[in-house]
Amino acid sequence: MTEHHAIEPIENVLVTGGAGFVGSHVAWLLCNLGFRVTVVDDLSTGHRAAVPPAASFVFADLRQVDAINQVFAERRYDAVMHFAARTLVGESNHRPVDYVRDNVGTLCNVLQAAVDHATRAFILSSTASIFESRDGSDIDEDQAVSPGNPYGESKRMCERVLFWAEHSHGIRTAVLRYFNAAGAQPGGDLGEDHRPETHLIPLVLQVAQGLRPHIDVFGNDYPTQDGTCIRDYVHVVDLADAHVRTLIALRSSGALAYNVGSGTGYSVRQVVEVAERVTGRPIPTIVRPRRAGDPAALVANSGKLRRELGWRPSYSDLQTIIRTAWIWHSRHPDGFGSPALPPR
Ligand SMILES: NC(=O)c1ccc[n+]([C@@H]2O[C@H](COP(=O)([O-])OP(=O)(O)OC[C@H]3O[C@@H](n4cnc5c(N)ncnc54)[C@H](O)[C@@H]3O)[C@@H](O)[C@H]2O)c1
Repeated sequence: MTEHHAIEPIENVLVTGGAGFVGSHVAWLLCNLGFRVTVVDDLSTGHRAAVPPAASFVFADLRQVDAINQVFAERRYDAVMHFAARTLVGESNHRPVDYVRDNVGTLCNVLQAAVDHATRAFILSSTASIFESRDGSDIDEDQAVSPGNPYGESKRMCERVLFWAEHSHGIRTAVLRYFNAAGAQPGGDLGEDHRPETHLIPLVLQVAQGLRPHIDVFGNDYPTQDGTCIRDYVHVVDLADAHVRTLIALRSSGALAYNVGSGTGYSVRQVVEVAERVTGRPIPTIVRPRRAGDPAALVANSGKLRRELGWRPSYSDLQTIIRTAWIWHSRHPDGFGSPALPPR
């Protein structure tokens, strides 16, 4: 973990969605660094066991204004990190109104409470899905914004609400647009447990575990080296580090926006091959037709985050991402539902 300087350990941070994959890793890092953390989550997709023991936990549905006002009535927060959201791109195409209402509504509830209680800083989990859905291998913050699905649209709207809140109320805001978060805490006690799982790396590892017979590869005729789609995977521990750096930066600046990815693209075929090497198990694949709207390549340019905040990903090579995820999955075959098996 990169050193974080100038941390004031008494800062209170509210982490919404801190029982989920990314939020829990960030909450653990904040606790380890001495921040006082409160996690608020309705456990709709998160897990109580993912919340660090040092954090306070509030069970609440952030779509309810009363619930969030209650959270703010009980403690004064210096900063909010807002992870809570509906996150399934495919589902959003079938339920666009739900996605916009819940993601934008929840953001508005939390942000208004933060403004009312003079919270100084607000960080939003945004996504590469806000960008124009065309092939890109160097997507920086100047890339044209034009979401290709309702999930991305809802996050774009959240970004705009933040912009106006900062403009009108002075709360300092940042948006972090993640590419594909992956990997797990290296100790093997915290990792990804989405149900249903839609992300490639955990799906591939479920095949290695014998929980799925094969992995579907959607399209092998893209204009890439091996014909399969290329994506940028950022290790969740590096992502957590980016959040802490952003939190510290917000003490002296505002209106921040960063794309967060490793800057290296890996194809679906490469992911499968590395997973076979790491697990020592065969991972059968079946090639399916292309999925509508899947660009051939999506790779971040995170130069701004590196330059301005000194961010240096240390875990985001594919081997380390898959190795740490495999330790988690093999020790927790049923995710947070299973007691930990001894280290392999
Ligand atoms: N995982 C990725 O690759 C990725 C990529 C880009 C952006 N993001 C964004 O990062 C954030 C976290 O993603 P994740 O993968 O950790 O998802 P996740 O589903 O694991 O975590 C979301 C958490 O929010 C909680 N939540 C959802 N709705 C809530 C509500 N109404 N009230 C209270 N709690 C609620 C869930 O229970 C869960 O714990 C999301 O905002 C997502 O859009 C994730």
